[in-house]
Amino acid sequence: LPPDLYGPARKNSRGVELGCRDMLASTLKDIAAGRREVTAASIVDGAVRTGTARTMASPIDGGVIGKVIEADAATADAAIATARKGFAAWDQTPATQRAAILEKAADLLEARMESFLALLQDEAGKTMDDGISEVREAVDFLRYYAGEARRLCGAGETLPGPTGESNVLRLRGRGVFVAISPWNFPLAIFLGQVSAALAAGNTVVAKPAEQTPLVAFEAVKLLHEAGIPGSVLQFVTGDGAIGARLVEAPKVAGVVFTGSTEVARIINRTLAGKDGPIVPLIAETGGINAMIVDATALPEQVSDDVVTSAFRSAGQRCSALRLLFVQEDVADKMIEMIVGAADALRLGDPRDASVHVGPVIDAEAKGKLDAYTKKLSASARVHYAGAAPATGTYVAPHVFELNRAEDLQEEVFGPVLHVVRFKAGGIDGVLDAIDGTGYGLTLGVHTRIDGLVEKVTERLSVGNVYVNRNIIGAVVGVQPFGGHGLSGTGPKAGGPHYLLRFASEQTVTINT
Ligand code: SER
Repeated sequence: LPPDLYGPARKNSRGVELGCRDMLASTLKDIAAGRREVTAASIVDGAVRTGTARTMASPIDGGVIGKVIEADAATADAAIATARKGFAAWDQTPATQRAAILEKAADLLEARMESFLALLQDEAGKTMDDGISEVREAVDFLRYYAGEARRLCGAGETLPGPTGESNVLRLRGRGVFVAISPWNFPLAIFLGQVSAALAAGNTVVAKPAEQTPLVAFEAVKLLHEAGIPGSVLQFVTGDGAIGARLVEAPKVAGVVFTGSTEVARIINRTLAGKDGPIVPLIAETGGINAMIVDATALPEQVSDDVVTSAFRSAGQRCSALRLLFVQEDVADKMIEMIVGAADALRLGDPRDASVHVGPVIDAEAKGKLDAYTKKLSASARVHYAGAAPATGTYVAPHVFELNRAEDLQEEVFGPVLHVVRFKAGGIDGVLDAIDGTGYGLTLGVHTRIDGLVEKVTERLSVGNVYVNRNIIGAVVGVQPFGGHGLSGTGPKAGGPHYLLRFASEQTVTINT
């Protein structure tokens, strides 16, 4: 969003003059206060399904923000059946027309940015900065995949051939795609998956994370309003069991999933065990993401980038920094500055424009993280343990020091940073340790030494390498995002090869 979107200071509804950030925060509070309760439910063939509602509480303060009606097995089956029926017509809809609908959805989303932002705050605990970048990313995905549909899915590419023969290679949809999305980007990743699958000519059955169905429900209504037919996009709420039922359904042509490696494996096994065609799984999973800081790095820049990478979004990004390798000659100084920068973060109600770190997603996540930090505090050196507000699901940023990188064996999905020192000349051991995690999503390098970046990028199979900057917030079409190994299957979201995996290829040879 342009920084001047909200212009210079102006007066709010109560006549108080506010700067642009405060103005936006005030607008969002007004929207939230005026919002009627959102009741999310499955949408099949354009009709909202009814059923018993579960109350949704905000991670900010536990206040009720809406309700969700979970799908039953019959709803999931109806969604798949409807999407199957809708496929032929959608696949034959010209790519330019599919693209125009997605672009209209992008326009609508931009126009309603504030109401989506307010809901992202209440449902997912997003800070203003995180919420703005998420809406921006969602808009970018819609426009980017629309452009990709125009580029890739048109009349096809004419290939060389002998005289008297024409050869055309074209892309078509594969059929019904099941899209299962995470709670940490309940709008951007949800819409990214759905829009890519739709752009390529598939019909979609989308299941949002059970923690964040409300914003996804609003997004589906927006897509239908933009012109996606009811038979083409189905929305199915529910937990993992409903997700499993969708994946198990016959004649699913592909699955796109973002979440844990463990669940990706389950989906993979399910798909592999099914009769019928062998279909693709596009999985984007986690990472034990590292950053390497050598003695030539600039300390101020490092501390800013470390804190941003590890603690923004309360560490709940798959790209977030978990493991920081610092050359021992500069380690004390770097750690001191990182602790100072962490301590300057404001933790609290994300609806306050000056807050940097909001709550984690729910009480279960908080419970796990609190138990982890408590346990690690007994065995590792604690450089920093911030203070969390007493109510709401807040987890304070922590900085631990480990003796060996191998002591970190799991992806800790929250604001917890692990630091390991390495000796000058010990870079090979660092690279072995990173490689040994088996993940390969994001990696940061802070150095002024020529050759280190080449060495690192050649040795490690990591999807996104960031040099002398933070390691979060990949921009659609600029930093295509996604990793290797335990971090996912590729292709990269927001990149020029993504749509290809959602499509089937057809060569038409005509003897003229
Ligand atoms: N795409 C996000 C980022 O780059 C992570 O999911 O931070």
